[in-house]
Amino acid sequence: MELVTFAPGSGLLAPRAALRSDAPSLDLGGTWRFRLSPSADAPEDFADPGYDDSGWAELPVPSHWPLHGHGAPAYTNVVYPFPVDPPYVPDENPTGDHRRVFDLPEGWSGGRLRFEGADSLARVWLNGHELGFWTGSRLPAEFDAGPWLRPGRNVLAVRVHQWSAASYLEDQDMWWLPGIFRDVTLTRSAADVFVHATHDGRLSFDGAGGRLDLPELGVAGLEPGVEVRVAAEPWTAETPRLYDATVTFPEETVRLRVGFRTVSIEDGALLANGRPLLLKGVNRHEFDPRRGRAVTRETMREDVLLMKRHNVNAVRTSHYPPHPAFLDLCDELGLWVIDECDLETHGFERVGWRGNPTDDPRYEAALLDRMRRMVERDKNHPSVVMWSLGNEAGVGRNLGVMAAWTRERDPSRPLHYEGDRSCAHTDVYSRMYASHAEVEAIGRGEEDPLEDPALDARRRAMPFLQCEYAHAMGNGPGGLAEYQELFERYPRLAGGFVWEWIDHGIAHPAHDFAYGGDFGEPLHDGNFVIDGLVFPDRTPSPGLLDLNKAFEPVRITFAAEGGVARVVNGHGFRDLSHLRFTATVEVEGEVVAEHPLEVPPDGGEVRLPGAAAGPGERWLTVRALLAADQPWAPAGHEVAWSQTRLPSDPPAPAGRTAATLSGAEFEDRSGRLIRLFGVEVEGPRLDLWRAPTDNDRYSGLEARWRALGLHRLTHRTDAVERHGGTLTVRTRVAPAAGDLGMRAAYRWTAADDGALLLRVDVEPEGDWSDPIPRLGLTMTLPGAAVDRITWFGRGPGEAYPDTGLAARVGRWSATIEELQTPYVRPQENGHRADVRWADLGPFRVSGEPLFGLTARRWSTAELAAARHRPDLTPGDRVHLHLDLAHQGIGTATCGPGPLPRYDLYARPATFTLRFTPA
Ligand code: GAL
Repeated sequence: MELVTFAPGSGLLAPRAALRSDAPSLDLGGTWRFRLSPSADAPEDFADPGYDDSGWAELPVPSHWPLHGHGAPAYTNVVYPFPVDPPYVPDENPTGDHRRVFDLPEGWSGGRLRFEGADSLARVWLNGHELGFWTGSRLPAEFDAGPWLRPGRNVLAVRVHQWSAASYLEDQDMWWLPGIFRDVTLTRSAADVFVHATHDGRLSFDGAGGRLDLPELGVAGLEPGVEVRVAAEPWTAETPRLYDATVTFPEETVRLRVGFRTVSIEDGALLANGRPLLLKGVNRHEFDPRRGRAVTRETMREDVLLMKRHNVNAVRTSHYPPHPAFLDLCDELGLWVIDECDLETHGFERVGWRGNPTDDPRYEAALLDRMRRMVERDKNHPSVVMWSLGNEAGVGRNLGVMAAWTRERDPSRPLHYEGDRSCAHTDVYSRMYASHAEVEAIGRGEEDPLEDPALDARRRAMPFLQCEYAHAMGNGPGGLAEYQELFERYPRLAGGFVWEWIDHGIAHPAHDFAYGGDFGEPLHDGNFVIDGLVFPDRTPSPGLLDLNKAFEPVRITFAAEGGVARVVNGHGFRDLSHLRFTATVEVEGEVVAEHPLEVPPDGGEVRLPGAAAGPGERWLTVRALLAADQPWAPAGHEVAWSQTRLPSDPPAPAGRTAATLSGAEFEDRSGRLIRLFGVEVEGPRLDLWRAPTDNDRYSGLEARWRALGLHRLTHRTDAVERHGGTLTVRTRVAPAAGDLGMRAAYRWTAADDGALLLRVDVEPEGDWSDPIPRLGLTMTLPGAAVDRITWFGRGPGEAYPDTGLAARVGRWSATIEELQTPYVRPQENGHRADVRWADLGPFRVSGEPLFGLTARRWSTAELAAARHRPDLTPGDRVHLHLDLAHQGIGTATCGPGPLPRYDLYARPATFTLRFTPA
């Protein structure tokens, strides 16, 4: 056959719903025989049932063969890894031949072979007869197997080509991973059903020859096309009420779980069941570090549970329909879903969109076929509230064809597509990575007009969503709280979907997790595939913990005069009666009292228990916890929290200054500190550098910082002055080759309680026009001197000026190892903010009043040079960073940098630290 065909397939049966049927079915997953050829033209003799495959390898199905030692994965974001010349593909076209022998159960006749997903073009033979071929990697394909099945031994042969004309339609930002990566079944089910169930209780279905029963609502023997009214509780992601139904056909009975819900757009707002729908979403690729996109049901469930436990209420299935079982979980546990078609042609952007399949009539059938197969498969899921035509596929006539068919087939769901700003074919206005300012303008209905007044008027009446925002690559994303504030303020804004759920790091023996280039790809996009809210092993990154806070469905604030908490129910569809509230009082981070709080089901003002003042800093924390087990989390799970500072006695007056400096040893000539409370130290000295984050890199800041030389500051001592018990060391800190620098004066005094005070005065000189990475001190100690650090400040996790929403004031403790955030590509991390004091073992450091704390067993230079986690190995020093300020994080890897208020500019500054012996 011709590999370069535009046809989406041949021999395929009409697409139909994914259904649970009592018709017999045979799971053909398991161990198959496998042979990899470097090109598409290997002999086809293997399809013969008599072929001897005993010399072939074994391969699990479902799987991607490059993850099982045959060939290698490759990663590109936008660009095609082959010349852009549709529909042609390279001669080097890895081709995987798969064989599976199975026994047909006794008495079996007829049936369909169903493939849930194979990447990218597959041909199938049963007992030597070619059934056909299909494309559309993340879409099901069914063939009539009946005429070719035979009693006893049957031989199934599948040839999968990595590249085909269809590869041009599948340029998603992810690993190129060929294979039969979803289930293969032989099924005798042939039924199709389309259930229509609205929140106001209208129920009907399409499915010729079937009769629907829904016993719980008294529906029996409902005929297709007939509508009944029932008293159903509506389905929402917050209250995912499902009703078991069956549709009985002469040959089989299918089981459905019906959710009654309605999506609509009124007055420019997106509504579910007539009420505003605010999407607190994430973009989810299917990914597992060992299995690629061949994800198991356990992994799917883990994803949904993790999302639910972090206040995520929506998923965009970027950028293809997921395994159908994932949508079952979304129905059951409650997530709003934008189901996206398997279509992306982003690589055409690099050639000025010339030849884009989206606008090429020869690709029309393929694009329409993809939309049909998605809609037909997933049409019965209450969780699916929007269809998306695809992602980053430019503009073109074929989008209109896809949209027209979909509107006709399923008028109940709005259409989404981001790639066409005119929104000619959509019902919602969607964008990616718009800045806060632009989102706000759109919220107010004040966006720049389109040239075409009719399209402009249409778009102005649409709800808006950010299908991607807050790019979670590396350290970050910053700015989540500010986006959420806008989404909650303007009714036109329907929320958005953070990019993205998981880091696609592939498990690797040397690198821990591999990214682009680690498999020797000649063309790749490095670690751009490492941009998730969870690490590849699904450990939540600080970004997910922040998102959890930003998405809280309960807002708790405190009256300025104290004594009162205001609790606002931020759920869209339920009250607060499933939660219990507590108020905890802590002194210096130690719990001194805990009280239950009675919060009315609709929220309101709540009196807080009285708390006597006393010595020590006092905080009151109100927490909203699940009162009982939910299917997605146990009772006691924290849904929301907020803190307020309580009055406390004024701190005891500082001790008097001692007449001599003791506790520290300084080098005579240079005034350099060499020993602190018996511990040999280097520093502290002024530091402006941090190991650039991905966001620092993509914003261009890293390049500017390196051009200035902030990573290679020199320190010159200008004066060492001793006056009584005070030592002052005046320095100038500056990079070579330029004339800007900073005067830094370190002034040491001792208090009569044995503490040492260090006051640092900083005065920039020259033209400091760019933000700087940090302003602080760095010192090192012998590695054995510090193991665990206990601190009072914000924690337990990292926080930067525009991140760390999840970090609350308390007393925390962690080993140095635990203080590191293991970003897959190492970079600045682990900064603990607003630290009052930290016990390091040999001494305590206190802020006057606050400082930022970072401790590592490697230097900033080593951190900046590392490419993968294992590149970082503990050295023999502990590197302590005691900071006054950090530059914000932002999300410039895709989207805006930090908001201006989080930029750190060089300025005259003074900060004071107190060192106290243990
Ligand atoms: C978007 C795209 C995503 C991803 C992201 C960057 O443009 O839709 O698939 O590439 O950028 O990580």
